[in-house]
Amino acid sequence: MATTATRWDVIDVGPNIGSAIHTDKETLLSGEKRDEIRELMEQRGVIVFPEINLTDDEQIEFTHTLGTFAHEVGEGSKDGKDSVYPITMDPKVNPNADYLKGAFFWHIDGTMSEMPILASIMSSRSLSKTGGETDFCNTYAAYEALSEAEKAEIESLQVVHAMWRSQLYHDPEPSYDKLKLWQSIGKNTLPLVWTHKSGRKSLVLGATALQVEGMGIAESEMLLVRLREWATSEPFSYRHSWKLGDMVIWDNTGTMHRALPYDHTSGRLMHRTKLEGEEAFA
Ligand code: SIN
Repeated sequence: MATTATRWDVIDVGPNIGSAIHTDKETLLSGEKRDEIRELMEQRGVIVFPEINLTDDEQIEFTHTLGTFAHEVGEGSKDGKDSVYPITMDPKVNPNADYLKGAFFWHIDGTMSEMPILASIMSSRSLSKTGGETDFCNTYAAYEALSEAEKAEIESLQVVHAMWRSQLYHDPEPSYDKLKLWQSIGKNTLPLVWTHKSGRKSLVLGATALQVEGMGIAESEMLLVRLREWATSEPFSYRHSWKLGDMVIWDNTGTMHRALPYDHTSGRLMHRTKLEGEEAFA
């Protein structure tokens, strides 16, 4: 297809994860790079658009060019219109700020559903003076680099995931009522190795992973921690240090992510949109 791009420079930022695209708003919003962006996102896990400075409306428009705009409970629409979701620790801006504290630990979004979201798109609106970077790791690359013996060891394992497990990371002594509320969300059993429609495989890990089926608690924890440490190690990970106006998009089906600690009164604010899932865990 003929391109009208005035600028389209793609630079890899890490060996196995992350690319930066330097471009302009018009090119992004035209949708002409849709297939290239989606392909790169699957290959590299994370794409950074440095200081692209999209407005909320432009971010919503851009999200629509890539796939189906996701509407989740309390997220993605406001007053009947598509909207960005505020990621902040300020309960005045987002009353669910407490729940968002789960984001400080490695996770995949949507492990409580059969079909996790395809991708998240996040723009920085206000930054903390210290901390607040976002870490990503490529769970395709981490799986692919395992030895054949390790792959065989984990190939058919199933893992029980529960949202309450991830909440215990930041709230280890909840009230009985709070725990009951968290547990009412239920649990979900997922394969440890996700075989995607493309034939590629990725690891399904993260803070919601409660226990490997058929294993005792200690053995299960050892395996999950060993794999988390591997998947998040330097060759497969990328740390994004935000500048104001950056937009980052990540493939939620082939990565994990987490926010690094920051001052909760700093006013750090991110605006996030999501793409609906296209593929169930398998
Ligand atoms: C998220 O988990 O989607 C947010 C990560 C961040 O705030 O850096």
